Amino acid sequence: MLVDKFDRKIDYLRVSVTQRCNFRCQYCMPEKPFEWTPKEDLLSYEQMFDFIKVAIDKGIKKIRITGGEPLVRDDLHKLISMISSYKPDIDLAITTNAYLLKEQIFKLKEAGLKRVNISLDSLEKETFWYLSKRDALQKVLDSIEAALKAEVKVKINSVILKNINENEILNLYNFAKSKNIQIRFIEYMENKNAYIDLKTVPSSQIIETIKSKYCLEETNLPKSSAAKLYKDEDGYVFGIIEPYDDSFCKACNRIRLSANGDLIPCLYYEDSLNIKSSLHNKQKTENILKQVIDNRPEKNKWSHNKTAENTEISSRAFYFTGG
Ligand code: GTP
Ligand code: 5AD
Ligand code: SF4
Repeated sequence: MLVDKFDRKIDYLRVSVTQRCNFRCQYCMPEKPFEWTPKEDLLSYEQMFDFIKVAIDKGIKKIRITGGEPLVRDDLHKLISMISSYKPDIDLAITTNAYLLKEQIFKLKEAGLKRVNISLDSLEKETFWYLSKRDALQKVLDSIEAALKAEVKVKINSVILKNINENEILNLYNFAKSKNIQIRFIEYMENKNAYIDLKTVPSSQIIETIKSKYCLEETNLPKSSAAKLYKDEDGYVFGIIEPYDDSFCKACNRIRLSANGDLIPCLYYEDSLNIKSSLHNKQKTENILKQVIDNRPEKNKWSHNKTAENTEISSRAFYFTGG
């Protein structure tokens, strides 16, 4: 079992398979970015799997594949298949923008994928384009249908931004509710790669907007994710993710592996150790895993600053950590 200094059990691994993406969401990536890590410096699926086997043997029970956009990396189903053959009962999921999901969903499901979290910030064609810089709404909606049809469990993630999609909170809510999909509204997390003028809509406003139509109660459903869960009078459950709130940290159960092999102890911290050169040696890999878990901070470093306006801006990119 993997346990950190603050007695938190670590059983969730997020694996980023690429930094690249076919979208350019304003809150994540500039249109003409930076330099990507050269392909030869990325871990191969075999190298990722070498690490994943060690992690599973030590107690990891849930793996989420992220990016960038994970479906732009060739043959993702091969990695899914390696993991699920090794441990068929693992909770195996991806987080995706869904642009390429419809065409891959059956292969992924067959390979062992159980769940998919889909980013959907707008149901309006123009706003979708404005936010992601891609004319892709219909393809994403088709992918959501395809995933439901394939009986893969779906959640929706929506980042809500002032003056951009704040008028869509109820539409997104009703859309997800009508399909019985859990939606999680996410407060925007500042970072140096995002467009500069973005402002989050605070969770309190999101809740008030939904309360204008529905009676809500906070639930005490088990908190395996960063979301606070609420229930409306019809029993529909949805979530709110507040990156500037540290109440989640007490139960944080995750570590992250980046596409170039950095093992990251916490989303908000810069320190990490690269596993690439140790992968041939199981003992060395286990030692790095232990060191990184020992390095986990008690709380996120923004916890004393509750508002986006006050906080230091993170230099670590979401497309690098996988969110
Ligand atoms: P589930 O397993 O379905 O609960 O998914 P998840 O919420 O763990 O993963 P997903 O990739 O869908 O992430 C949703 C949002 O949660 C993203 O905006 C992530 O950046 C954010 N998130 C993920 N991990 C953490 C974390 O450790 N702390 C905080 N505050 N947010 C996180
Ligand atoms: N703030 C909040 N959420 C973000 N995501 C990406 N960048 C940010 C950000 N700056 C979300 C995406 C995706 C998940 C992995 O993280 O919308 O759903
Ligand atoms: Fe791509 Fe996701 Fe970043 Fe949007 S948030 S640019 S879909 S990695």
